Amino acid sequence: MENITISKLNYWKVHKKKFAAITAYDFSFAKLFSNQGVPVILVGDSLGMTIQGNSSTLPVKVKDIEYHTKAVRKGAPNVFLLSDLPFMSYYETKIALKNTAKIIQSGANMIKIEGGKWLIKIIKELSERSILVCGHIGLTPQSFNYLSGYKVQGKEKNDANKLIEEAFLLEEAGIKMLVVECIPALLAKQITENLSIPVIGIGAGSNTNGQILVMQDLLGITEGKTPKFSKNFLSESGSIQNAIQRYIKEVKNSLYPNNMYSY
Ligand code: KIV
Repeated sequence: MENITISKLNYWKVHKKKFAAITAYDFSFAKLFSNQGVPVILVGDSLGMTIQGNSSTLPVKVKDIEYHTKAVRKGAPNVFLLSDLPFMSYYETKIALKNTAKIIQSGANMIKIEGGKWLIKIIKELSERSILVCGHIGLTPQSFNYLSGYKVQGKEKNDANKLIEEAFLLEEAGIKMLVVECIPALLAKQITENLSIPVIGIGAGSNTNGQILVMQDLLGITEGKTPKFSKNFLSESGSIQNAIQRYIKEVKNSLYPNNMYSY
């Protein structure tokens, strides 16, 4: 695979080429996903649940993200690799800079942080130091207590306007990519069309520039209730490789997520 850079992702946004992204946490899956042509991989703090078996992302430590980022980078040397800064690892600028350094030194191209206005100063400080930052708004799992659970965000007009304003402010502060999670498809469309940076959606309809899924959801190995937007691509594909091909194709052609998988 060619080396994927932020310029490439911007180019795809400008030329309306949709791209697929997926979480990965280890060498073998990262290699498989990269070999199938997935251009963007996220070492998400979802590993707190999918790998560590916790009930939320809150127990994840920076050293966990470092460990998994190193493994994923070895398996996928050319993908654009995004890694999460976990809960409370960026509550102030100095701490954010220190922890970002560890994650970038582990092989990530970009770090992802959850939240709105309160991140502006931190984003500016990171961007001034040439760090690529991805924002994450809408349903932000690190705030699930504050949000009273894992619910669709931005359904009411005021909440939707707040998310639009936050997206603008984060872009102005210097983020180079944005993840929008669990928001109405029309709101995601509006945000995507009004920002000049790539917007990746999860549970946000098909009008974002990219889509991301947690690999266990995509492969149908998440036990219990899965979110409305998650689709098991393995069930009709016969192999993991075919499931990934199908995911990439459906994202590129705006077939996934259709209305059945959107809010
Ligand atoms: O941690 C994660 O896997 C994520 C995705 C759900 C976007 O943040």
